[in-house]
Amino acid sequence: MVAEFENQVSQTLEEIKSQGLFKTERVITSPQDAHIAITGGKRVLNMCANNYLGLADHPALIAAAKEALDTHGFGMASVRFICGTQDIHTQLEAALTKFLGTEETILYPSCFDANGGLFETLLTDKDAVISDELNHASIIDGIRLCKARRFRYKHNDMADLEAQLRAAKDARFRLIATDGCFSMDGTIANLAGICELAEKYNALTMIDDAHATGFLGETGRGTHEYRGVMGKIDIITGTLGKALGGASGGFTSGRKEIVDLLRQRSRPYLFSNTIAPPVVAASLKALELLSASTELRDKLEGVYVIGFFYPVVPHGTARVRTQVSAAHSREDLEFAVNAFAEVNEELKSL
Ligand SMILES: Cc1ncc(COP(=O)(O)O)c(C=O)c1O
Repeated sequence: MVAEFENQVSQTLEEIKSQGLFKTERVITSPQDAHIAITGGKRVLNMCANNYLGLADHPALIAAAKEALDTHGFGMASVRFICGTQDIHTQLEAALTKFLGTEETILYPSCFDANGGLFETLLTDKDAVISDELNHASIIDGIRLCKARRFRYKHNDMADLEAQLRAAKDARFRLIATDGCFSMDGTIANLAGICELAEKYNALTMIDDAHATGFLGETGRGTHEYRGVMGKIDIITGTLGKALGGASGGFTSGRKEIVDLLRQRSRPYLFSNTIAPPVVAASLKALELLSASTELRDKLEGVYVIGFFYPVVPHGTARVRTQVSAAHSREDLEFAVNAFAEVNEELKSL
């Protein structure tokens, strides 16, 4: 039985390799930044981190993390409700609430967990989730865990969303779920249209703003600010693992009753470790910096990049994605554009 299983696994690995889809991990030997060192000492221009604001190696965040090591320790060895809630955890929840313009926030070990613990807690088989077809894997998995009926609408297509809302009209509650900013395609969800339809069909709205919190919108609050619907989105999930310092951790922010229930029932919150104190303190510092000034956000030019292929994107839609950060200079970007142009010429001549 074990040998047979091993055989099967090896066969699957071979198939992945033969399709050219086998991922290998390249090793970085420096901190995360616009320029990084890789094994062998070579320095390269980095255009594939989610380090949108260049905060992953920011001196103020490092200092805050170091201070928290002294004042609050390294780890908590507990989930939140047992003995894993420090003063800084509640401060970070309050700071996120203020930053996002919501009523309440709950932290999670990751945004994947925030999405994983959302739908099952709030919805039953009497309800319906209406989900954008290109939503992130964690939204898809979160929806799979709940018993609500599932409806999928064409990517950012308001006519199809309306059709699906009509199809879901018999459900007790309807929840529209979408990425705020779709990192693979660069689409920014039409939240004004979504809010209008939500009102018309009496539905709740949820966005995953992992690729927007901290920099999208005039003061970086996220997609809801960018689309002019602050205060109208019922549930926002997000990450501390990208623009806000890039360490780890996630959150769900929104209506107070919803967050109160998540704190009682959401499984990744109840059964997984609290966020480590240095990460919490550095994330608080990131929010403090972003609330004081939009300088880092203003430096961004709105371009994204990296190579992605199945299963990260569907078969036949492989692409190169670049991600620009406030840590990049104009010369960095020119260098990148020239490099792409050169490769393009090389490929044309093959
Ligand atoms: C849209 C979206 N949601 C959630 C996540 C997961 O975030 P985290 O790393 O905090 O689990 C990601 C990360 O890639 C993402 O792109």
